[in-house]
Amino acid sequence: MKDKIEKLQTLREDAKQGGGEEKIKSQHKKGKLTARERIQLLVDEGSFDEIDMFVKHRSNDFGLEKQKYLGDGVVTGFARINGRPIGLFSQDFTVFGGSLSETHAEKICKIMDMAMKIGVPVVGLNDSGGARIQEGVVSLGGYADIFLRNTLASGVIPQISAVLGPCAGGAVYSPAITDFVFMVKNTSHMFVTGPNVVKTVTHEEVSFEDLGGAETHASKSGVAHFAFESEIEVLQNIRKLLDFIPLNWKDKSPENQFDFSQNLVEPALDEIVPDSPNKPYDMNNIIKLLVDEGDFLEVHKNYAQNVIVGFGRVGGLAVGIVANQPSVLAGVLDINASTKGARFIRFCDAFNIPLLVLEDVPGFLPGTEQEWNGIIRHGSKLLFAFCEATVPKVTVITRKAYGGAYDVMNSKHIRGDFNYAWPSAEIAVMGPKGAVEIIFKREIAEADDQEKKLAEKLSGYIEKFANPYIAAERGYVDDVIVPSNTRLKLVNAFQLLKTKVDSNPRKKHCNIPL
Ligand code: HXC
Repeated sequence: MKDKIEKLQTLREDAKQGGGEEKIKSQHKKGKLTARERIQLLVDEGSFDEIDMFVKHRSNDFGLEKQKYLGDGVVTGFARINGRPIGLFSQDFTVFGGSLSETHAEKICKIMDMAMKIGVPVVGLNDSGGARIQEGVVSLGGYADIFLRNTLASGVIPQISAVLGPCAGGAVYSPAITDFVFMVKNTSHMFVTGPNVVKTVTHEEVSFEDLGGAETHASKSGVAHFAFESEIEVLQNIRKLLDFIPLNWKDKSPENQFDFSQNLVEPALDEIVPDSPNKPYDMNNIIKLLVDEGDFLEVHKNYAQNVIVGFGRVGGLAVGIVANQPSVLAGVLDINASTKGARFIRFCDAFNIPLLVLEDVPGFLPGTEQEWNGIIRHGSKLLFAFCEATVPKVTVITRKAYGGAYDVMNSKHIRGDFNYAWPSAEIAVMGPKGAVEIIFKREIAEADDQEKKLAEKLSGYIEKFANPYIAAERGYVDDVIVPSNTRLKLVNAFQLLKTKVDSNPRKKHCNIPL
């Protein structure tokens, strides 16, 4: 037995070497960690149970029969993060550049199938040259097997992708189907076709980083939800993200202990919204005062910054926050903000995470650029996502709630559970100036002193509509609250809504405007 155990240990040590010392050195030289180092940093110490360590590829073409590595370029298994289970795979660039072979794909699929049966999230650490070229269509088939599983698992278990190296060609679509994509600045790249192909086809000269680097995808394309300076930060933030989300669609997010006897009044909230409706303010300052310990994990931080989305806790309960940002484009809703918000809302709804909406929105962005690119189609995604969501939904209108955006931003009419307004709220079809210029156009034009007439009509309109009380009269807002009491109101609301049950009509699936 002793010999046999020794042989097993030797084999394990061999597998842990991946592509060997030289390749590991080269990986480090590129500023990247190895597949196993990443796992160590990601999961709770000693919690990783590896499977399929002895798997080898089956290819005999192009001399591959002489190059077989235990594990075949991907490390897979189950582990715990802050005590909660996950399935994971970590591609090993030191073995054939982490390229995906038939067996490499089978290992990933096995983890996904198990994770679906058990009901645990899957974290994929991607670092791969794509399809293993020597295996041809077999490798492409492997990718398709993964894509199918990514799709079937969507909404069943959370799926998180870290892109920590190259990710090119069709391979980008596996991370893209998953719920969250993390990237590292300067070392990770995602593109359907690389700079060389781009140059040949479109004659554009573009670097790897500009075409598909972390900053590009985190700010321009929206493909990446998070971009960090280092792999360590990526791995730490995956841990943080997982703390906010449940293991599967039937589960609830972990609840933190909360002292309900503490003082929940936040006087600073009374001072944030400026008296002038045209003056911007930073909605982040409100969010930080509303969430427990000011701890807010922002998603898509650098993309479509006119809307803010992310996770926090209120009274110990995890919530997804969707907020207009008055300090960027006055918080207007445009195409990117709408799709960003919609995707986030759908994730929260799929995984039983209550929604908190903070509203200060002048409307949808006008203009040919927006109309021609389909603000109607994309804006309707946000509307659809809010309408469809059956999780607890609470809205606080801090200032403007104008036009269609009033309806869209989780209004009472589309199943907002508790809708509050601050006394500074202005709820109307449009802003005072625009409204007055339309409805009193002739009267103003015919007046001897047009400016005086405009001012007179404006103050009448502001008096009547630029407040929350007409909506409150109708019950469209449940209460007008003093800002400093908002945290208290929210803690109570989300506690009460813990047992909320709501559902949508039975159907095969909805047809969200894509
Ligand atoms: C087999 C591969 C490989 C691949 C890299 N290697 N990519 N082996 N199949 N796809 C091997 C290299 O031969 C090399 O082996 C080792 O991995 C490291 O690669 P390097 O080129 O030395 O590393 P680096 O300079 O860092 O460049 C990394 C790279 C480059 C940018 C990823 O290797 C590259 O461009 N690879 C090809 C990418 C590609 O076109 N893949 C197919 C995409 S299409 P040795 O033994 O020399 O160390 C695709 C279709 C998916 O994936 C379809 C899904 C629908």
